[in-house]
Amino acid sequence: MGIKTIAFLYNVRHFYLDVADYRNQLEADFDDPITTKWQIKRLKNLGFKIIPIEANENAYLKLKRYKKEIDLAFNVAEGIYGKDRELQIPAILEMLQIPYTGSSPLTHAFALNKGKAKQIFQAEGIPTAPFQIIKTAEFTLDSKLKFPLIVKPVAQGSSMGITNKSVVNDIDSLKKQVAKIITAFKEPALVEPFLEGREFSIAMLGNPGEVLPIIEPNHSMLPKGYLPFDSYEVKWYFEEQGNSNYLMCPAKMDKKLEIRIKEICHEVWKALEVLDWCRIDIKCDKENNPYVLEINSPAGLIPPEVSTTSYFPLAARTAGMDYEQMLLQIIKTASYRYGLKIK
Ligand SMILES: Nc1ncnc2c1ncn2[C@@H]1O[C@H](COP(=O)(O)OP(=O)(O)OP(=O)(O)O)[C@@H](O)[C@H]1O
Ligand SMILES: [Mg+2]
Repeated sequence: MGIKTIAFLYNVRHFYLDVADYRNQLEADFDDPITTKWQIKRLKNLGFKIIPIEANENAYLKLKRYKKEIDLAFNVAEGIYGKDRELQIPAILEMLQIPYTGSSPLTHAFALNKGKAKQIFQAEGIPTAPFQIIKTAEFTLDSKLKFPLIVKPVAQGSSMGITNKSVVNDIDSLKKQVAKIITAFKEPALVEPFLEGREFSIAMLGNPGEVLPIIEPNHSMLPKGYLPFDSYEVKWYFEEQGNSNYLMCPAKMDKKLEIRIKEICHEVWKALEVLDWCRIDIKCDKENNPYVLEINSPAGLIPPEVSTTSYFPLAARTAGMDYEQMLLQIIKTASYRYGLKIK
């Protein structure tokens, strides 16, 4: 019997995005209602019956109620509450034995927590910048860390808490920024060297994941006043304001760098036991040496009706897959893994 019914697991924004207000950034990882609407429509266009389920406290009850009918869950949920939120839905799906797209709870937990992911990268010999996890406003800076440094929340996405002020050049600014992150996000801050070279974002799809055309944000295009990196303002305002050529895909680079980046991505995939799809962010130092910043185990999948700058769909599009073909490919990849047939 083939897959007829798909449960779609998502989180949606209940507040408006306002870059000046950190409270609103707390929901930045969630999708806009219009995004969710189009994602459901596009899944329906593929001929499946779709049961939309918001990944909130009621998700378990709904999944249990519909369990017999659901052939596969399509998971783009970020999860609510708690520091390990991304693993909530996969854990529930495991418990209910419902097959689902994407990685298992273990991978999501490590992918969301940049510090833990970096410890795994270090243990596996995967290049990642040295770092320090800071839990309190008073701390001693690790002597390995040299300015300029960047301060990020340890376990968020969508550049939450990452603005021009996140890049610091002295101990006072560092302390201020660390305190701000700890207070606003109620979680530790991750401090690491600010890498000043090229940035690449790499979408992977399949089992094992194949690298789709690599994306490079063209930081030289940013107006005066923006530092050359993808801060919250750049990701959510600059990219969306018709600056479509800001994202270069496929990124131009010499063969040696391309081979090295692909090699690193496959190592990340293996080290974190990723399944079906993910997106990896890499930044180079001034000498063009690539370092892994982080991995997104569910990456954003904003449909072209809403945005044409969503990284994973952009990489898929460059590879020749339109949005629906991309969704179908994720479904097929997961189904194959479970030994399920599509229709
Ligand atoms: N060590 C670093 N050096 C230079 N720039 C950095 C560094 N860490 C992060 N950045 C910049 O900040 C952006 C956001 O950082 P990062 O990817 O770690 O966070 P995120 O919020 O999880 O991102 P995403 O939107 O992909 O979920 C990066 O794309 C990069 O431009
Ligand atoms: Mg990122």
